Amino acid sequence: MKKIILAGVIIVLGFTVNSCYYDKYDELTAYQKLTSPCDSANVSFNKSVMPIFASLCNNCHSTSTNLGNVILDTYQGAEVVALNGKLVNSIEHTSASSLNYMPQNVTTKISDCKLKIIENWVSSGSKNN
Ligand code: HEC
Repeated sequence: MKKIILAGVIIVLGFTVNSCYYDKYDELTAYQKLTSPCDSANVSFNKSVMPIFASLCNNCHSTSTNLGNVILDTYQGAEVVALNGKLVNSIEHTSASSLNYMPQNVTTKISDCKLKIIENWVSSGSKNN
């Protein structure tokens, strides 16, 4: 009987120690999330939005390629689709036509962080900053 109790104590202790370990692990991940480089609060057109367009969009939307007459390598071009709502609709996949889900030919949306950066830039007045 004593052995069974002892075994029970060891098992319970085992779980406790393990859960402590995982608690700390969770804290670490939460901390890492907090300090991750996604800064969607302080958006600037030049520093936050342009790099996203440059890496994901401008092979089709530069001044020279301008597919769909959309130009995203200048502020003036980006401002047009920011103001008419097409920019957010296209990246959020809420466009009228799935042909206009951007980036085109990619089924998944751009990352949540990039979505937030672009949306915050638009909702804060799509400034040239
Ligand atoms: C592979 C080429 C390609 C890439 C990459 C691409 N687009 Fe497009 N985009 C197009 C084409 C083609 C159209 C015109 C589609 C049409 O009118 O049917 C278009 C249209 C658009 C429109 C207008 C949509 C509308 O409703 O009229 C917006 C806004 C847009 N793109 C934004 C973006 C953004 C933002 C990215 C990057 C996240 C991006 N695109 C990446 C090819 C691309």
